[in-house]
Amino acid sequence: MSNTEQELRQRQAQFTKELHGDDIGSKTGLSALLSKNKNAQQEAVNKYLRHWDGKTDQDAEQRRLDDYNEATHSYYNVVTDFYEYGWGSSFHFSRFYPGENFKASVARHEHYLAYMAGIQKGDLVLDVGCGVGGPAREIARFTGASIVGLNNNDYQIAKAKHYARKYKLADQLEFVKGDFMNMEFPENTFDKVYAIEATCHAPKLEGVYEQIYKVLKPGGTFAVYEWVMTANYDENNPEHRKIAYEIEVGDGIPKMYSVDVARDALQKVGFDVLVGRDLADNDDDVPWYYPLTGEWKYVQTLGDLATFFRTSFIGRKVTTTMVSLMERVGIAPQGSRDVTLALEEAAVGLVAGGKQKLFTPMMLFVAKKPEN
Ligand SMILES: C[S@@+](CC[C@H](N)C(=O)[O-])C[C@H]1O[C@@H](n2cnc3c(N)ncnc32)[C@H](O)[C@@H]1O
Repeated sequence: MSNTEQELRQRQAQFTKELHGDDIGSKTGLSALLSKNKNAQQEAVNKYLRHWDGKTDQDAEQRRLDDYNEATHSYYNVVTDFYEYGWGSSFHFSRFYPGENFKASVARHEHYLAYMAGIQKGDLVLDVGCGVGGPAREIARFTGASIVGLNNNDYQIAKAKHYARKYKLADQLEFVKGDFMNMEFPENTFDKVYAIEATCHAPKLEGVYEQIYKVLKPGGTFAVYEWVMTANYDENNPEHRKIAYEIEVGDGIPKMYSVDVARDALQKVGFDVLVGRDLADNDDDVPWYYPLTGEWKYVQTLGDLATFFRTSFIGRKVTTTMVSLMERVGIAPQGSRDVTLALEEAAVGLVAGGKQKLFTPMMLFVAKKPEN
C-alpha cells in the first residue's frame, strides 16, 4: 500500500472514531444518529456535499471521479443510520411478488444472486462493497459458504462485525477495510465473487472489474447486480441527465454509466459474460421502486406498512421535518437535514428513472474467469 493510501486509511479510521464514538453497534437508525459528534458530522456532510453543486460539466464530473474514495466514505458515514432506519440492513432493491413481504423479497433477491453465482458450502467468497453485512449474513446462512466482505467505510465494517458476532456467524464471516479499486488480496484467492449495488460507486467500472478478475480463481464466477442507465437513456437529453444526476447526488455515485459500458468493461478485463439480464425489465404487478413511491396500493402485507411509511414520499417528508427540527434545537447534528434532502433527491430520480425505464438497480451479470 502506498504512503498516501496508508495516510488516507489512518485519517478515515480516526475520523470514524471521532464521528461515531467507540460504541458502534449498540445503536442503530435514529438513535445512532443522535449520538454522533456534532462537529464531525458537519465535517462529514461538507466533505460529501462539496462535490454535488448541481454541475454536470466535465470538470465537475472529473473532480467527483478523482475524489471517489473520500466522497463515498463520507456519504456512507452520514447515510448509514438513515438507511438502517428506513430500509433495514441490506442496502439494495429487489423485485416483489404479489403477497410477498419486504424482508422475504430482499432475501430472495440475495438467494437468487448466490444461486446464479453457484455459491456452495466450502467456497471462499468475496462480497465487494458489503455494507453492514446484511446480504453476506443471508448468503452465508443460505449456502454455508465462508464470505469475506470488503468495504471502504470503517463505520459499516464495525457494524457488520458486530452483527456477525450477534447472530453467531463470526466463524463464516470476515469483514475487511479496503478500496475495491485497489484490492490487497493475493491473486486467485476466491472461488466466487459477488457485488450487490456497490460497484456503481467505482469511478471506472473497468477498474473494479479488473480487480475482481485478479482475485477470482481461474474458472471462478462473478455475479453482480449493477446500477446502470439502460439503452433508453440518452446522455444528451437534459431530462435524462437530470434524472441520472439526482441518482448520483443522492446516492454518492461519481458517475452513472450505461449498460453497454458495464458489459464492455467486463469483457475487456477478460471475463466471459454468461448472463446479462435486466431483472427490472418486466411486467411485475409491484415495481421494484414501490417503497419510494407513496402508492399504498402496492403494499403487500400489514407488517410492511411501517417500512413503507418510512420510505414513502410522506414518510420521508415527516423524517426531513423531524430531523430539521431536531437539528434546529441542537439534538441532531448540523447537516442532518441536508442529508435527508440529498436522499430525497435520490428517491425522486430513482422513481423517475424506474418509471421511464432509463435506470435499473438490478442489471444482473454473471461472468466467468476462463480456466486458462
Ligand atoms: C448501496 S451499498 C450496498 C451494500 C451491500 N452490498 C448491500 O446490498 O447491503 C454500497 C456499498 O459499497 C461500498 N463501497 C463504495 N465504494 C467503495 C470502494 N471504493 N471500496 C469498497 N467499498 C466501497 C460502500 O461503503 C457500501 O457499503
